[in-house]
Amino acid sequence: MDSIVGLIGRDDVVSDLVAEIRKGKHVILTGPVGIGKSAVLRAALDQAGDKLDLIIRLHDHQAKGQFVEMAKQMLALELLTAKELELPAALYGIPGSEIDWGEIKNKVNRMSIRDLTHAVIPALANSDVKPMIAVDDLTSLTPTQMAFWLAIFEHAQVVGCASEKKPRVKKLWWKMKEIHIKPLPAPVVREMVKMYITEKAMLIESPDQFISHVVKQSAGIPQAIFDMLEESSKEKIIDKRKVRAMRHDAGVTYLDFTPMVMLLGALIVSMRYIGMGTGDKTLYIMGGMGAALFLTFKFFIFKGVGR
Ligand SMILES: Nc1ncnc2c1ncn2[C@@H]1O[C@H](COP(=O)(O)OP(=O)(O)O)[C@@H](O)[C@H]1O
Ligand SMILES: [Mg+2]
Repeated sequence: MDSIVGLIGRDDVVSDLVAEIRKGKHVILTGPVGIGKSAVLRAALDQAGDKLDLIIRLHDHQAKGQFVEMAKQMLALELLTAKELELPAALYGIPGSEIDWGEIKNKVNRMSIRDLTHAVIPALANSDVKPMIAVDDLTSLTPTQMAFWLAIFEHAQVVGCASEKKPRVKKLWWKMKEIHIKPLPAPVVREMVKMYITEKAMLIESPDQFISHVVKQSAGIPQAIFDMLEESSKEKIIDKRKVRAMRHDAGVTYLDFTPMVMLLGALIVSMRYIGMGTGDKTLYIMGGMGAALFLTFKFFIFKGVGR
C-alpha cells in the first residue's frame, strides 16, 4: 500500500531504526501482522543505504529459505565461493557473480541448514566490512535455528521483524534492541483513507461515515485499512448501507462457532449409537450418513477459516 499513498506516520520510528542501524545494533521490529514492520524496515534501509556497504536482504519467512537466500546473495556478492558451498569442482574457478543460479539452485536447496551455515558463517567472518543482514521475518524461528543465528550475530549486523517474540528463542531477543511498532493513530488513518479515496477517485455517498468506519474497524493496522479500501474500491458507488455492512476482523472479534460445530458432531455420532442400541435401523443409517456429511462439511469450513 505504501506504493499508493507512501509510508504514512512512520517518520519517527524509521529514524529510530536508522539510528540503531548506524550504531551497529542488532534490531528486532515487533508488532502484529500487518502493522507495517516490513514497510518500516524497507524505508529505514533505503535511508541508511548510503552508509551500508554490504547488505543481504532475506524475504523468505522460513529458516531454510532464508539460508538459501543468504547463500545465493553471498555468492553473488563474492563473499562466498563455489568451493565453500561444495558445489561441483567445475565451478571453482568462476567468480560467484558469474555463476548461473538456475544451474546450482537445486543443489543448494538440497543442502541442510547446518551445512549452509557451516559455509556461510566463516565467509561472513572473513568479510572485510561487516555485512548487514536484513531478515523480513524471524517469527517462526526454532531453538535449533536460533543457534545458527546466534553464530551469525558474531559476524554480521542483523535487523529483523517478528510479529511475536516466542519465548523458546528468547536468547536471541536478548541480543536485539526491540523497536515496537504501534497502531496508527486515528488522525493518521483518516489522512491515509482520504489520500486513497482521492487517488482511486472513489465515489462515496457519505465520506465522513466511510472514513470513521475504516478508522474504527481497522484499529490502526495498515493492512486492515488496505484490505477494506481495496474491497470498497471495487464498488461503483459506496452508499451508507454498504459501509454499515463493511467489517474487518482487526477491529471486530468474530463469533466463535467451534463449540457449536463440536456439539452438532457429537449429536450426529450419538444418533448412530442410539440407533444401533435400540435396533432402530433408520436412525442408525441417518446417523452414519450424517457423520459422513458432517466430516466433509467440517473439512471445508475449517479449510476456509484458516487462510
Ligand atoms: N505507515 C504506512 N503507510 C502506508 N502503508 C503502510 C504503512 N504501514 C504499512 N503499510 C502497508 O500495509 C501493508 C502491511 O504492511 P507490512 O509492512 O507488510 O506489515 P508487517 O510486515 O508488519 O506484517 C503493506 O502493504 C504496507 O505497504
Ligand atoms: Mg512483514
